[in-house]
Amino acid sequence: MFGPRKSLSNVTQHEAGQRLAKTLSWPHLIALGVGAIVGTGIYTLTGVGAERAGPAVILAFAIAGAVCACAALCYAELATMIPAAGSAYTFSYAALGEKIAWVVGWSLILEYSLACSTVAVGWSGYLVGWIEAAGIHLPQEILVGPHGGGIVNLPAVFVALAVMGMLIAGTRESATLNIVLVVIKLVALGMFIAFALPAFQSSNLEPFMPYGFASTEVDGHKRGVMAAAAIVFFAFYGFDAVATSAEEAKNPGRDLTIGIIGSMAVCTLIYMAVAVAAIGALPFQQLANSPEPLALVLRSLGKPAAAYLIALAAVIALPSVILVMMYGQSRIFFVMARDGLLPRRLAQVSPRTGAPTLITLLTGISIAVVAGIFRLDEIAELANAGTLIAFIAVGACLMVLRRTAPDMKRLFRCPQPYIVGTLAILGCLYLLFSLPTATLVRFVIWNAIGLAAYFAYGRSRSLVGKAAPAS
Ligand code: ALA
Repeated sequence: MFGPRKSLSNVTQHEAGQRLAKTLSWPHLIALGVGAIVGTGIYTLTGVGAERAGPAVILAFAIAGAVCACAALCYAELATMIPAAGSAYTFSYAALGEKIAWVVGWSLILEYSLACSTVAVGWSGYLVGWIEAAGIHLPQEILVGPHGGGIVNLPAVFVALAVMGMLIAGTRESATLNIVLVVIKLVALGMFIAFALPAFQSSNLEPFMPYGFASTEVDGHKRGVMAAAAIVFFAFYGFDAVATSAEEAKNPGRDLTIGIIGSMAVCTLIYMAVAVAAIGALPFQQLANSPEPLALVLRSLGKPAAAYLIALAAVIALPSVILVMMYGQSRIFFVMARDGLLPRRLAQVSPRTGAPTLITLLTGISIAVVAGIFRLDEIAELANAGTLIAFIAVGACLMVLRRTAPDMKRLFRCPQPYIVGTLAILGCLYLLFSLPTATLVRFVIWNAIGLAAYFAYGRSRSLVGKAAPAS
């Protein structure tokens, strides 16, 4: 019913010229994970979360983190069992069938590309703030998209294209640069916690849950802990980008387990500390919707130099999120093309760098166009919807493969797979339906376009389909 499945034994066999080079080991993978995870979510969406949930944004971070931890455990088992590029898409192809895999791949395109665009727009906001603080006023037309009265967000376009150029230059150099940027981001967050936590006042946590728990619409705005969890979920994902690089890992069993679970655990702990420090230091109403909540807290505490440094870290290091996400995106596209579901010409790997150049070029340009034109919060919410679908599929794949391929070698075994898999699926569904209705409508439209493309093009050209006609 869901189309042909990829054979598990063949899933890592690929033609010469379409195989990705094995260049990454676990420090690269943890850096890839943390590089993709810590970004606009913690640096800017903390304010949006506070507006939606009040001090209970701390709880929203915990809920989103718990759901992502379940998904991360599922990912870790599947990525070490099926160390092939494509992550949730490839797992779904093997476990659930081609049609589901297509929907997941199409949703992953949304996740990775829109996350890149979101971070590019957030980066542009910091940069523009700086330029203006220095007394230089550029025309508004080139600083914001049409929604804000401008023509194009040129800094966002610039950063997206610059990162694309790095990826085309080769995976390894990009991954090494990424480690430096990750260190900058983590040091800045550590500095924030060190300055903000001593100013903690328990009165700032009361009332803790002013808008209740469930996501409800008040005056056209989503409110409640789950509404906040559905947006701050953005802060957690990215660890799945590690799984997309499985084919390029030198020692997938050890490296991927450490890479996925390690990066997830590090980030969850840091976020909880940052959220407690921020909410404890300042009444949440002051944080609500600030474009730079962490810098705002530090300024309010009379630490302008620290506020300047944290903003500097954001400007320097946020491109690392774009780097990892764009990397993951080009790999998803690459694998779908290699499978014949998208034009195969796109899957050609450069003999010099081992990177899929044409796909990376197309991906980078699309991301730059979206970043140049659209609004930040709407892009982020749509990226979340795509990610949630991928996580749901991964929870299902884990449980299905435990039944259909119980004897296959698993270098990492998820504890209590049926409980963890079910929790991942239910948690993601709850987050998905806590998103604004408009986002869900856009998501359905995106997938309707995707399915039309599948039936018009991919289904008849699928290599797996040709080898084993759909049942
Ligand atoms: N988790 C990434 C971020 O917060 C996407 O920027």
